[in-house]
Amino acid sequence: DCVTSQSMFRLPGLIDVHVHMREPGAVHKEDFKSGTAAALAGGVTMVLCMPNTAPAIIDSDSLQLAHKVAKEGARCDYGLYLGASATNYSTLAGISHDAVALKMYLNETYTTLRLDDISVWMKHFENWPKNKPIVCHAESRTCASAILLAHLCDRPVHIAHLARKEEMMVVKKAKANGLKVTCEVCPHHLFLTEDNHMSEGRSSVRPRLVTEEDRQCLWDNIDIIDCFATDHAPHTDEEKSKNPGPFGFPGLETMLPLLLTAVNDGRLTLADIEAKLHTNPKKIFNLPDQPDTYVEVNMDREWTIPYAMKYSKAGWTPFTGQKVKGCVSRVVLRGQIVYVDGEILAEPGYGQAIATSSAGREESNVATLNGGLRSSSKEIIGSPSRLIRST
Ligand code: NCD
Ligand code: ZN
Ligand code: ZN
Repeated sequence: DCVTSQSMFRLPGLIDVHVHMREPGAVHKEDFKSGTAAALAGGVTMVLCMPNTAPAIIDSDSLQLAHKVAKEGARCDYGLYLGASATNYSTLAGISHDAVALKMYLNETYTTLRLDDISVWMKHFENWPKNKPIVCHAESRTCASAILLAHLCDRPVHIAHLARKEEMMVVKKAKANGLKVTCEVCPHHLFLTEDNHMSEGRSSVRPRLVTEEDRQCLWDNIDIIDCFATDHAPHTDEEKSKNPGPFGFPGLETMLPLLLTAVNDGRLTLADIEAKLHTNPKKIFNLPDQPDTYVEVNMDREWTIPYAMKYSKAGWTPFTGQKVKGCVSRVVLRGQIVYVDGEILAEPGYGQAIATSSAGREESNVATLNGGLRSSSKEIIGSPSRLIRST
């Protein structure tokens, strides 16, 4: 019943809750200007930025510095994370109004912020405001530990980049028991496995690429996944050609095409994408509306992911050579066309810091999410110039 060759659909502006902009400190890998261009090219209109920068964002001075560079460079809207350190647990609550959430690194990864002492985790769980999320990098048994401790401290916890079957089983059981836990999964754990054709340095990422059994388990439990998030962690092509190389993959420009391909393959729906990249992130992180903001996607465009995507400074992608079907045609952010057919139109500085101080609600919405909230995605419509096809 479709008479045109290209079918266009509209999605709300996507929200990526896990992005590394590398500014301040490592702007040869990425900065706000390049990273938010990559975001818009990928249909992402709001990014939540991680604190493992140089300096790390762990106190008032570093947070203000991050706000300054973000305000100057950002082309899309953004929120900033604070990072938990071994010593800052008594001071973070006082500056939490300028941050969107707290990040805790509980395993080895690309960061100076790793926390080993569980009593320090507990201090952070107790002191950080309960209406603002805590996001944990917590793999394997650490995932179970973090969920238990958050529960003992009677507060919600969000598990970053869940990747393994064992982590899925723990989160699923915790949700079934009514615990306030949510999770995100990254495209590279949904679409790649340890059996890839990359060199060891290039394929290194934390959590590491998983087995086929792990990957299948993520797809089998798609309803347990609250959010998709890129964990856009750019390191340059040269850095990744070394062995060992730094952990991390760029992902902002490839996430939506990969997910649209899964929709075309019947493994996912556009409603899933809307739920996991808009509705759920908004609820979990208490994020404001972005008025007049939407993404138009072309579901029929077939292309092959090149060696490097256009806007990230990474200069490579782990998805190179993958055949995809679906692309971003146009992005409108607060009434302005910010991306159209490959070109970025938003200037650095167009992006706004999300207002976090007034967004606080007494209790988070995590309980509702655990009740199995699904997208109401009726507003997916075709662009006016093309035939409208509903899902
Ligand atoms: C991230 C990075 O490079 O900042 N690397 C990664 O492998 N995921 C850090 C992180 O998210 O753990
Ligand atoms: Zn991590
Ligand atoms: Zn990360």
